[in-house]
Amino acid sequence: MNDAGAELLRVENLSVRYGAGPVVQGVSLAMAAGTVAALLGANGAGKSSTLKAIAGLEPAQGRVVFDGQDVSALSTAQRFRAGIVYVPEGRAIVTDLSVEENLTLGAYFVDAKTRAQRQRMVLDFFPEIANRLKAPAGLLSGGEQQMLAIGRGLMSAPRLLLLDEPSLGLAPLLVARVYERLAAIQQEQKLTALLVEQSFHAAAKLARHAWVMRHGHVVGELDASALRSREGRLRAIDAYLGARQDDASAVAAPVAVAH
Ligand SMILES: Nc1ncnc2c1ncn2[C@@H]1O[C@H](COP(=O)(O)OP(=O)(O)OP(=O)(O)O)[C@@H](O)[C@H]1O
Ligand SMILES: [Mg+2]
Repeated sequence: MNDAGAELLRVENLSVRYGAGPVVQGVSLAMAAGTVAALLGANGAGKSSTLKAIAGLEPAQGRVVFDGQDVSALSTAQRFRAGIVYVPEGRAIVTDLSVEENLTLGAYFVDAKTRAQRQRMVLDFFPEIANRLKAPAGLLSGGEQQMLAIGRGLMSAPRLLLLDEPSLGLAPLLVARVYERLAAIQQEQKLTALLVEQSFHAAAKLARHAWVMRHGHVVGELDASALRSREGRLRAIDAYLGARQDDASAVAAPVAVAH
């Protein structure tokens, strides 16, 4: 669908402020169609705010160019129609609705036949939720809810999937499973995705490029080989975040311990 290799997303000098100071400042990045990249950084670095600004969910300064078109002035709904789909952190499914109804929400504007086709595709990727279609979504486990949230995002056949911390709150085994599915979807659908993670390790399973954010700024970049090697990831954590921890865990600035 997208012309693989051509630039699909360009963010120029993006800034977000909620009140006092900016929480995202001068962020610029670009992605080619059919690729997966990551925004990495500790709590409060501005990762979610950046994703939301790209989706039009937060007012921002700067430019968002999608498939050659400046979408900065478009509403969230217009960007969604253009193919920019944000999957929020914390899963954010509608717990009172059934699994199937949640999926329908992701593609309410397409005809029933297309919706059924896409639902089959989503359920093929996530068999865990396939036999729970009529169950209230709130009864799914954390991992299943994450799969449902991603599945709902896929229902609109997005051209750019913005995934906010798909590993949040999941046990390592489930993180691995969710990322395995994402890799399969990426390969089959030639999906373009920008994902946010605190864990360099989790992001490296899928992303071939990453930007590191700190205090609202992009402070560094990792290429595919740096991301793939444990040494490369630890070097980047040292260089950009000033904290050396096991990169399988969340990365946070070291906390001084009072004696
Ligand atoms: N709606 C809001 N109103 C006011 N401040 C906000 C709002 N949303 C986020 N912030 C602040 O903006 C900063 C960046 O938040 P953001 O959620 O973008 O960080 P993040 O990198 O996604 O962090 P985390 O990894 O914890 O999700 C934080 O200091 C946060 O407290
Ligand atoms: Mg966040």
